[in-house]
Amino acid sequence: MLILLLFPFLFLLLTATPHHVSTTTTAVTINHLQQDTMDPSELQTLYKIMETLSSDHKWRLSFPNPCKPTTSWTGIECKLGVTDSHLHVTRLDFGTLPNPTCKTTATFPPQIFLLPYLQSIFFFNCFTKTKTTLSVPKDRLRPPSPLQQLSLRSNPGLVGSISSQLFSHLPSLQILTLSQSKLSGVIPPEISELKSLVHLDLSYNQLTGFIPIQLCNLRKLVGLDLSYNSLTGSVPNTIGQLGMLQKLDLSSNFLTGSVPTGIQKMSSLAFIALNNNRFNGKLPVGLANLKGLEYLIMDNNPMSIQLPLELGQLPKLQELRLANSGLSGEIPATFSQLSNLTTLSLQNNRLTGSIPVGLGNLSHIYHLNLSNNWLTGEIPFDSGFLKRLGKNLDVSGNRQLCLNPLQAYDSVTLEVDVCNRSNTRVGNINSRVKPLKTSEGRVVEISQSTLFFVFFGFHLYLY
Ligand SMILES: *[C@@H]1O[C@H](CO)[C@@H](O)[C@H](O)[C@H]1NC(C)=O
Ligand SMILES: *[C@@H]1O[C@H](CO)[C@@H](O)[C@H](O)[C@H]1NC(C)=O
Ligand SMILES: *[C@@H]1O[C@H](CO)[C@@H](O)[C@H](O)[C@H]1NC(C)=O
Ligand SMILES: *[C@@H]1O[C@H](CO)[C@@H](O)[C@H](O)[C@H]1NC(C)=O
Repeated sequence: MLILLLFPFLFLLLTATPHHVSTTTTAVTINHLQQDTMDPSELQTLYKIMETLSSDHKWRLSFPNPCKPTTSWTGIECKLGVTDSHLHVTRLDFGTLPNPTCKTTATFPPQIFLLPYLQSIFFFNCFTKTKTTLSVPKDRLRPPSPLQQLSLRSNPGLVGSISSQLFSHLPSLQILTLSQSKLSGVIPPEISELKSLVHLDLSYNQLTGFIPIQLCNLRKLVGLDLSYNSLTGSVPNTIGQLGMLQKLDLSSNFLTGSVPTGIQKMSSLAFIALNNNRFNGKLPVGLANLKGLEYLIMDNNPMSIQLPLELGQLPKLQELRLANSGLSGEIPATFSQLSNLTTLSLQNNRLTGSIPVGLGNLSHIYHLNLSNNWLTGEIPFDSGFLKRLGKNLDVSGNRQLCLNPLQAYDSVTLEVDVCNRSNTRVGNINSRVKPLKTSEGRVVEISQSTLFFVFFGFHLYLY
């Protein structure tokens, strides 16, 4: 009787894995058999997914038991079920070698949401030629998926909008990456249903509309990247609720308004990129409270403000980029306290005054761009500093900036004049340039010869 019951299983085992059939006792065979097999419906779902994605193999023939350790392929990971002692698919990885690559007709397989044990999905460079959408199985009663990571990167064939359906039934999702595709439409407010989300990356798509305020309910977010889309409107002030956020990248959109004051509550922030938008107005004063901030990248916004002094109070700052931002005022002397600064980009603004002497003390700096401003006076760097930065120091396009003749030989690449010694005899360089400023701190354009005449006259008077 026992033998009869076991016969179909034995037959399966024989056809599936002939080299594994042993002559040991029946009990051992049963054990072996259960550990190697998958639930038949899960297996069928897996085959459907494989066939939709890849034509590398005849999956059903070449991998009759795809989870079995000795015959499984690199793109799959399986685990033994705790309660049913079947093997279950927990990870699928497609698109980059050594994993299976996708066929040109590959389309997005909604069945991935039906694999009851699947935790991670990686589809890189998978949907390229054939247009496909992020479809979700219709069944509204389907059980929640245990998926923790859904990473779809570099899939230009992925078009259409992000369906709000995507977010239901994924209570465990921690990482959602849909970057470098052609997704359009708005970010659905239902995204707030992803209660476990830690990383959200929707960068390099064609998303439009506002940043939904509901996004600010994802309190566990550590990384948020919405860069390179076409998002409009202002950033919700409630973004300050994301107290665990370390990386905020909203660069290259059409965002307007001022940088929300809520940002000053995000005490975990280490990286902020808001460059290439239409932000304007003052930066929140409380920005100086973000003591962990290492990167502040804000180039190309019509800010039209004075370069904020508070930025000198961010001790961990490594990169400060505020080029092309309509900034006026002087470079604060407090910037010389930013001892970890490696990059300072302030080019294409309307900065006035002289370069703070202390900048030459920044021992980690290797890229300093101050070009195209209205800076004046003598460049205060010693030859060691000039040598170290070499071509990464750009002070060109500041007509009234000049170089100490002693350093002129070391810095032939700097496109500035050598300071005129006959002028410096009258007073030091700084006193030479100070009278040129009006009370508003704007430089009055005076030709060099007029300048010389003024001082020459003064010289005569002294005698
Ligand atoms: C500068 O960076 C180093 C190494 O990353 C770090 O150990 C140090 O604390 C930083 N300095 C400041 C003032 O934050
Ligand atoms: C630069 O560093 C030197 C020595 O570390 C110090 O004496 C000097 O005051 C510093 N200069 C500025 C402007 O911070
Ligand atoms: C400085 O900025 C200007 C203007 O954007 C750019 O043309 C130049 O290449 C930059 N210089 C360096 C050294 O990065
Ligand atoms: C520098 O001073 C000399 C006179 O010593 C004058 O002929 C020349 O025009 C001045 N150059 C500039 C750039 O002011």
